[in-house]
Amino acid sequence: MELIKTVAEMAALGHGWRAANKKVGIVPTMGYLHEGHLELAKTSVANNEITVMTIFVNPIQFGPNEDLDCYPRDLAGDLAKAESVGVDYVFAPQPADMYPKTYSCSIDITGVSETLCGQSRPGHFQGVCAVITKLFNLVQPTNAYFGQKDGQQLAVIKHLAADFNMPVKINGVPIVREADGLAKSSRNVYLDEECRKQALVLSQSLQVAKRLYDEGQRDASMIKAAVRAHIETAPLAEIEYVEIVDALTMQPVGKLEDEVMLALAVRFKTTRLIDNILLGGEA
Ligand code: PAJ
Repeated sequence: MELIKTVAEMAALGHGWRAANKKVGIVPTMGYLHEGHLELAKTSVANNEITVMTIFVNPIQFGPNEDLDCYPRDLAGDLAKAESVGVDYVFAPQPADMYPKTYSCSIDITGVSETLCGQSRPGHFQGVCAVITKLFNLVQPTNAYFGQKDGQQLAVIKHLAADFNMPVKINGVPIVREADGLAKSSRNVYLDEECRKQALVLSQSLQVAKRLYDEGQRDASMIKAAVRAHIETAPLAEIEYVEIVDALTMQPVGKLEDEVMLALAVRFKTTRLIDNILLGGEA
């Protein structure tokens, strides 16, 4: 496995692969790798000739009061993990190389990025779209892999790639969970013992929703109320949103007809966790 540290080197490799018609998979991450990230990498390794994992804590997708400065980092550990699942290249650039002083573009995706996390994290998806566009341009991938864990991000990037005719297929990978159900996340390290325990209500509440759905409930407000009630059994849980949206457009629905995503964001003290479940589709 090779570590690429500069934008210039990455661009030279990526454009060489495109010219040689190589099948290249990209796995964008912010590092501090866990099994969720590695599942994306394994899927890419199994389906491409070359896999590039990118590790970059993208400053422009963090708001002024978010956790950019304390976001967990462990490049040495990440390199060992990436290599263990067969990643060929890790691209880990410096912020000043990705965003020189001349950088001035912003990509504003409306609709799909305006609900859920788009409401509570203004500017977040613009930052994600910008960095993903840059990474796609540098790596020139055939396939890109994103987790269903960040279901809205996956939907936003599908729109980005389609709107700009990017020659890359966007692949979603199911959520990887801890044995007790908590969705794996780099931010889980922030949880103290009590919060970690109470955070189980998130995945449990999604199962409450699934059971109601399987029993035939199609009224979004009924399902949301049951989910909220379950989360509220955890005294430390502060709900930011519980919403049911169309899986493609991310717009709220009243009745569950086509495939929908039940998405939630909940704070435990200073840690904000998200989780979701797809209902009515292939899941
Ligand atoms: P990060 O939070 O590091 O996540 C990188 C990728 O791993 C995302 O596609 C995310 O959905 C996926 N992922 C995280 N936890 C997962 C889990 N438990 N199961 C399955 N997949 C999981 O998301 C970002 O970074 C950034 O916004 C990025 C796309 C890299 C742009 O900066």
